[in-house]
Amino acid sequence: MTELHRVSPSRLHQFVQAIWLYAGSSAEEARLVADHLVAANLAGHDSHGVGMIPSYMASLTQGFLQLNQHVSIEKDAGAVLTLNGQKGFGQVAAYEAMQHGIERANRFGLAAVGLHHSHHIGRIGHWAEQCAAAGFVSFHFVNVMGDPMVAPFNGSDRRFGTNPFCAVFPRRDGEPLLLDFATSGIAYGKTRVAYNKGQPVAPGYLLDAQGQPTTDPGVMHQSPYGALTAFGLHKGYALATMCEILGGALSGGRTTHDATLLTGTDAIFNGMTTIILNPDAFDAPAMQQEAEEFLAWVRRSPQSGEAEILVPGEWETRNRAAREREGIPLDSNSWQQICAAARQAGMPEEELAAFRALAQ
Ligand SMILES: NC(=O)c1ccc[n+]([C@@H]2O[C@H](COP(=O)([O-])OP(=O)(O)OC[C@H]3O[C@@H](n4cnc5c(N)ncnc54)[C@H](O)[C@@H]3O)[C@@H](O)[C@H]2O)c1
Repeated sequence: MTELHRVSPSRLHQFVQAIWLYAGSSAEEARLVADHLVAANLAGHDSHGVGMIPSYMASLTQGFLQLNQHVSIEKDAGAVLTLNGQKGFGQVAAYEAMQHGIERANRFGLAAVGLHHSHHIGRIGHWAEQCAAAGFVSFHFVNVMGDPMVAPFNGSDRRFGTNPFCAVFPRRDGEPLLLDFATSGIAYGKTRVAYNKGQPVAPGYLLDAQGQPTTDPGVMHQSPYGALTAFGLHKGYALATMCEILGGALSGGRTTHDATLLTGTDAIFNGMTTIILNPDAFDAPAMQQEAEEFLAWVRRSPQSGEAEILVPGEWETRNRAAREREGIPLDSNSWQQICAAARQAGMPEEELAAFRALAQ
């Protein structure tokens, strides 16, 4: 296992911003990317935090990721928008897509936004939190175009992406309720984190290249490649399929099949269909109270063991509080890879040395 460092979130944010400025991003783009990646680490989702930088840099070098793009509206049907992410940073495209959706939901009471051909949009909860901060409920169906990683239920090789699903409910007196997960048993990035730390993953999540169960995260990072399994047996596989069709096909993008495969590259393109609802448009004056009554009721269940009962989103809220206080944990392998990406972006050695010292 490699050494773990604690890095200040604000200094890490400066580092990430500087990397993308050197790579050629506008100040606004560099800030949105840094906001997103550091927030993912703060939320506890290291798989979608600053550890993505080397992969984004590789995608840029390979000509997939395009800098300084903005979404274009391909069809405006009032409450329904279809947007093209122009292969630009997903941290910009998804932000702009949510801003458009929130504006439409304010106008119509609800909105649906199809976003396609966006580079990786990272932690989906970030976009749900943007909707919740504006007072809205949202649902997000996401596909990962042409990047198969997950085997179908009863199948034995990789056929589709880790297709996340996300939903949020804003609370009047508390953090939003947030459901946000990959439909694979574990997110691909979690295999990268385990692989970098030299640790196995728990049983039940991986198949090797022969379709046999394994705990070795290396099967996702070295040829011959294996596959992740879907969570919850046939149910997770069925939800992943709906994310593929709603996130990929309904959004105006592509789904995963032999004509769209992007294997062997660092390109990650997401499609996302988002439904945004104004809760105040419902005739439900007791909505907030009913939600709180339910949460209090489930919390009163006697604990089955050591671990506390949490409500969806609370795990992230607690991580945020702890990591704001204690710093963001980063393993040495990931840190070395991020510093190499900074050098590749053109950061001068003296400036890099100052940032490098953050994790020593
Ligand atoms: N952009 C992409 O292509 C892509 C693909 C896959 C995953 N992702 C992202 O990866 C991240 C990690 O996904 P994951 O599948 O590893 O998530 P996960 O397994 O850590 O599950 C997270 C969800 O479970 C909830 N949760 C955690 N502990 C809980 C508890 N004790 N009680 C109740 N709820 C609890 C969290 O609040 C959250 O809603 C997500 O943010 C997801 O959006 C992105």
